Amino acid sequence: MSDPAVKELVAAAREARAQAYARYSGYTVGAAIRAASGKIYAGCNVENAAYPLSQCAEANAVAAMVLGGDQEIAAVAVVGPGGEAPCTPCGGCRQMLAEFSDAGVMVHICGPDDSIAEEALGDLIPHAFGPKNLDKAED
Ligand code: THU
Repeated sequence: MSDPAVKELVAAAREARAQAYARYSGYTVGAAIRAASGKIYAGCNVENAAYPLSQCAEANAVAAMVLGGDQEIAAVAVVGPGGEAPCTPCGGCRQMLAEFSDAGVMVHICGPDDSIAEEALGDLIPHAFGPKNLDKAED
C-alpha cells in the first residue's frame, strides 16, 4: 500500500472504524469513499437493539457522500477487525456501492494494520443490477 491516495483513504476508514457503534456484535467496521470530485466520505457501522435495523459502514459512507453532493465513486476502503476472513463488503453493501461505481472501482479491504486485499467492485458484484436495468443510465 504505497500509493499515498490509498493510504489517505484507508486512514479515513480506520478513523471512522474508531467511531463504530457495534454494541451487539463487537465487530467494528469503518469505510471511506473517494468521490470523483476528490472528496472523501466516511462511515462506520451503527447497530441497533432491533438487530435488523443495524447499518453497515459502507452504506453510511454512501449516505454521507450523497448528502455531500457527490454521486460518483472513484475508490473505496473498508477496515474491519482483520484476521483470517477480512471484512469484504456484504452483499447489500456491494449493491449500494455499485449504484454509484463503475466495475473498475477498486475496493481496498484492510485489517487494523495494513492493506490486505484489493478487489475491483465488478469482481465483487458481477452483473450488478443497476440504473441501466431501469432505463435510468446517464450516458
Ligand atoms: N458490517 C459492515 O459494517 N460492513 C460489512 O460489509 C459487513 C458487516 C457490520 C454490520 C454489523 O454491524 C457487523 O459488521 C457484524 O455483521
